Amino acid sequence: MKASARLEIGDTICELPMIEGTEHERGIDISALRSTTGCITVDEGYANTGSCISRITFIDGEKGILRYRGIDIEELAEKSHFIETAYLIIYGHLPNQAELARFSELLTQNQCLHELMKYHFEGFPATAHPMAMLSSMINASSCFYPGLMGRRNAARFDVQAARLISQVRTIAAFSYRKSRGLPIIYPKRSYNYTTNFLHMMFSEPYEDYQPEPEAVRALDLIFLLHADHEQNCSTSTVRMVASSQANLFACAAAGVCALWGPLHGGANQAVIEMLEEIHRAGDDGSAFIAAAKDKTSGKRLMGFGHRVYKSYDPRARIIRRACDELLARRHVSDPLLDIAKRLEEAALHDPYFMEHKLYPNVDFYSGIIMRTLGMPVDMFPVIFAIGRTPGWIANVKEIMDDPKARIYRPRQIYMGPPKSPYVPLEQRQ
Ligand code: SDX
Repeated sequence: MKASARLEIGDTICELPMIEGTEHERGIDISALRSTTGCITVDEGYANTGSCISRITFIDGEKGILRYRGIDIEELAEKSHFIETAYLIIYGHLPNQAELARFSELLTQNQCLHELMKYHFEGFPATAHPMAMLSSMINASSCFYPGLMGRRNAARFDVQAARLISQVRTIAAFSYRKSRGLPIIYPKRSYNYTTNFLHMMFSEPYEDYQPEPEAVRALDLIFLLHADHEQNCSTSTVRMVASSQANLFACAAAGVCALWGPLHGGANQAVIEMLEEIHRAGDDGSAFIAAAKDKTSGKRLMGFGHRVYKSYDPRARIIRRACDELLARRHVSDPLLDIAKRLEEAALHDPYFMEHKLYPNVDFYSGIIMRTLGMPVDMFPVIFAIGRTPGWIANVKEIMDDPKARIYRPRQIYMGPPKSPYVPLEQRQ
């Protein structure tokens, strides 16, 4: 007999079916709750609410497990690369040689923006944040592809997905160049995805940037580690928009906006700004940790804590090791990395952080790598968005492929004023 949950509300007893996932996580299916009891559930921030059944990513927050399509993130980080992992996340299996070659060719064919797009860049002030530019330009680019607006079509999906992954990277690089008053650098056909990004960011018309292998590897790892993360804030936003059958580019543009927040993908920028503040103050980190524990300070230890991980974020562990390797290969040290390590050591032994189960998350060390590669701080969330694009696409595809997909429309409990009459202007106080 299938397991069920009994819910007793007054004289009504409601049997709710249980769902068990691949890794034995359990959920209560409340799809019949309102019709059976007249009640809804309320779960501010959705901490206890599953929005969907998904087959893409599995996280065990207590054990610090992260798997893309069943493969451990540690194994992918060691053996795979971003584009192969993007294919895995979107299509559900590791690509064979032919599939990987076709996917790579689609990315190359779709790496350039429509030439008229460059005039859009002219309209942004030099101070424009690249995340604002990225979101706007993703939607602007969709205007050049009328096919995107048509009814969803699996055959066209592959091209649209490759175009989005490729162009997010091109738009990001162009945004950076424009914000610095630099000429845009076009992608090279001969370069792979990540090398091309570094080329478009740092080459000059008169001199090509020579991408060092360790820089390409470190950035590719950052993209791979950010590629998906189940129903986080931005991916949930993407699914919300996808549920209305908006086009793929509109979904991604919405995801960029949600990711930008400092509590989410903007945290990597906030971490570096925090470490720089500590460095400038000559603090050993203890004053900042004290402030982060003081609710009245308005400060948090950025890069620490997670809604799901109540243990060390496995991505943070991989990135921290990659930081050490990159700096060692370049024979450089970074005072901010030393401060970050001291902060981690202190926080992990502090009762407040231990009781709240606050550990370093993916954003705590990623900025150190991006800073070492010469990325400006305001580009950090953009790098996160480039990495996360395959995950967003995979989630949109899950909705597209589901014949029973419905528009996302949560309910609410109304706590506003009771019924009241309209008061004409002349009678108001
Ligand atoms: C990402 O969801 C994902 O999967 C996201 C992500 C992905 O790949 O998509 O992993 C990427 O967004 C990582 C998180 C990046 N954000 C930060 O590093 C910002 C700092 N961290 C937090 O603000 C916070 O931990 C969140 C936003 C990450 C999680 O927020 P929750 O789950 O809503 O937790 P909360 O804000 O309710 O905090 C619970 C308690 C509170 O204390 P009490 O009132 O219960 O006493 O923990 C405290 C908080 O004050 N707390 C912190 C803290 N994070 C939580 N206290 C100090 N410093 C912190 N960083």
